[in-house]
Formats: sequence, structure tokens, C-alpha cells
Amino acid sequence: MQNRNMQFKLFIVTLVLHCTTGEYFKTKPSFVKTCYKRDPEFEDCSREAVQQLFNALGPGLRDIGMQPLDPLKIPKIRILQGEGPVNVNAALDDVTVTGFGKTEVLSSQVDSKTYDFRTKVRVPKIRIEGTYDLKGKILLIPLVGRGICWFEPTNMTIDIVSDVKVYTKDDYVFFNVTGAHVKYAIGGLKLRMNNLFDGIESLEESTNAYLNANWRPVSESLRPILSKTIEDILLGFMQRLFNNLPGDFMIGDIKDYVPSKKAEKKV
Ligand SMILES: *[C@@H]1O[C@H](CO)[C@@H](O)[C@H](O)[C@H]1NC(C)=O
Ligand SMILES: *[C@@H]1O[C@H](CO)[C@@H](O)[C@H](O)[C@H]1NC(C)=O
Repeated sequence: MQNRNMQFKLFIVTLVLHCTTGEYFKTKPSFVKTCYKRDPEFEDCSREAVQQLFNALGPGLRDIGMQPLDPLKIPKIRILQGEGPVNVNAALDDVTVTGFGKTEVLSSQVDSKTYDFRTKVRVPKIRIEGTYDLKGKILLIPLVGRGICWFEPTNMTIDIVSDVKVYTKDDYVFFNVTGAHVKYAIGGLKLRMNNLFDGIESLEESTNAYLNANWRPVSESLRPILSKTIEDILLGFMQRLFNNLPGDFMIGDIKDYVPSKKAEKKV
């Protein structure tokens, strides 16, 4: 039997993930820095290049229909999680996430064989705001309520491993990002849920105080949900970006590392 604690479902609805049809950047956009895999300084170059991508994604790339990463708007996040320290049936509506525009890229590697990306980033402060509707338990405390809420994780470091396949189209090499896996650490968490217990004031205040005083176990119990949320958001952004951006613009000598169709046929 699977560990029931880990069984949960999460749905992020309409993350603006329409498929693109044929159109992509035919010339290198100004926010792209080209690196060369054969360059011994490739990793430094790649870190700087990925930093420039994050800087461009902050305000959004309207040319290719990408919404801003900061502030990031998510219409709805649904959380259904089974037994365990977090046992919740919750919805977050009209969610606004601010802070990803200040993402600092710490390192970036591209696996020579699998092309998987390994990226390490730090975000000094994130604020997640929305309207919650919650019934469940966190840290074994039964919680019921609906209202405005916010969460503020600080100094978040995120290790991202992206599964990547390459394909060629019109003589360009494209990255097909098929999965994202994150591990994160945070240095602190503040949170507020208004109108807990339908606004019974003493309970609302004491519960918020308790959750803040115990932010570390609270954040641990939210880890599966938060990890999945970050993975879904990143995957959506990366798929959209790399469907529209030939890999050749990012890695100038990528063709030396990707067998061309002709070469494959000759074998
Ligand atoms: C942020 O977290 C990292 C890793 O967890 C740590 O090394 C660093 O000192 C922290 N920075 C701040 C400003 O707290
Ligand atoms: C990307 O990978 C997925 C999963 O393997 C596959 O279904 C899809 O067809 C691929 N897309 C392209 C354009 O190769």
C-alpha cells in the first residue's frame, strides 16, 4: 500500500496553457544570451543566460502570449489531501503571487547526454494572496473558514530538475520540457487566514498566532502541496517558453551535441 499521507490531489485550473501553433521566435530575441557547450565557462554563461530569461519572464512575454511571472495570477488552486498532518479540502481563488521577479539564479547546468536542466534559484520573498475556503486539519488542529489569506515564505531556495527531450523543426533544435521536479528550502514563513472559524475572533487570532509560531512544522506539512504547485507553474512556463524559443539561440553549438536526422539515417 502506498503511504496514504502522501496521497493528495491538486488541480491548478487554466494556467493559460493553450498550445501554440507553428509561430516561434525566428530570430534571437534580445533577452536571450547565447552560450556554447564547448566553452569551459559554459556553466557561468548558462547561469547568466537563465538569469536573463527570468528577468524577461517577470513582466511577461506578450509576443508569445506569456503572462507575467510577477505578479503571477492563478485563477484557482484546489487542494484535496488525504490523511496525515495535513488533511484538507481547500480552494484558493483569485491567487496573486508576487516576488518571482526577484529570482536570483544561483547555478544552471545542462546534462550533455539527457539535456535535462538542473537549475538552482533563490527568491528573497514571496507573497501569495487569495481567497481561501478551507475545511480540514493542519498540525492536527481542525480548521474551518473562508476569507482573505496570505502566505509569505522568505529566502526560498529551489533546486529544479527539468526533464527535457529534444526535437528538430525547420532545422532548429527545440527543447520539449516534459517534467519538472523541485526541492526547496525556506528561511521563514508568515501567514494569515482571515475569518477562520467564521470570524470567532478569539479563535481566529489564537490559531493564526499558533500557526505562525509553528511555521516550520506548518511549512513541512504543506510541502507536498507547495512542491506540486511550484512544479506545475514552472512546467507551464518552461513548456510555453521553449516551444517558442529554438534551443540553438540558447546553446549556439547545440547541433554538435544533438544527432541530426540525416546522421541518424546514415547509420
Ligand atoms: C538563505 O538560505 C540559504 C540556504 O538555505 C542560506 O545559505 C543563506 O544564508 C540564506 N540567506 C539569508 C539571507 O537568509
Ligand atoms: C513532447 O513530449 C511529450 C511527452 O513525451 C510528447 O507527447 C510530445 O509529443 C512531445 N512534443 C514534441 C513537439 O515533440
